Amino acid sequence: MIEILRNRRSIRKYTDQKIEPEKIELLKEAALRSPSSKNINPWEFIFVDDKMLIEKLKSCKPHGVAPLSTAPLAIVVCANETLNDVWVEDCSIASILLQLTAQSLDLGSCWVQIRKRMHDETISAEKYIQDLLNIRENFRVLSIVTVGYPEKWREGKPFDELQFEKIKINKM
Ligand SMILES: Cc1cc2nc3c(=O)[nH]c(=O)nc-3n(C[C@H](O)[C@H](O)[C@H](O)COP(=O)(O)O)c2cc1C
Repeated sequence: MIEILRNRRSIRKYTDQKIEPEKIELLKEAALRSPSSKNINPWEFIFVDDKMLIEKLKSCKPHGVAPLSTAPLAIVVCANETLNDVWVEDCSIASILLQLTAQSLDLGSCWVQIRKRMHDETISAEKYIQDLLNIRENFRVLSIVTVGYPEKWREGKPFDELQFEKIKINKM
């Protein structure tokens, strides 16, 4: 796990290489193994691999979403907010687990923030996606995790740049 963490960086450009179906199945399994508050599992994951839909998803934010220009797979992480008041935490955990699983499978990934982001002056990015993907009532969209083979791997952050001053012992 520490090696996965050392090597993970956000990847925003992907090659044309298709993701093997076995890897996609493992990503689905990883998402569904995410822990959630009270084991309620309020989330649902929309695996979008349709190029036209990904192209439309790209327009969910005003200046477009760079990682969606080349990503062969976009995983929309959403949850039924009426099931759990901490759905944001539940979806966040699932999002990072998807990223770490992607890394473990030699795939690059990027978290694209949707919650609290706007599509234009009047419509939220979330509403745009809810309409585009027929997302059911009460389902809130937290993020999109883009996945694909990196155009170029990025170096992990150097150990000596870690902010160890942010670690306190016993009291702040
Ligand atoms: C909550 C959250 C929201 C993020 N939103 C976006 C986003 O909307 N677009 C994007 O390109 N990257 C996004 N990222 C990726 C961060 O920019 C990235 O993790 C950060 O710059 C650190 O770089 P690294 O992931 O390469 O270590 C997000 C990451 C997190 C954790």
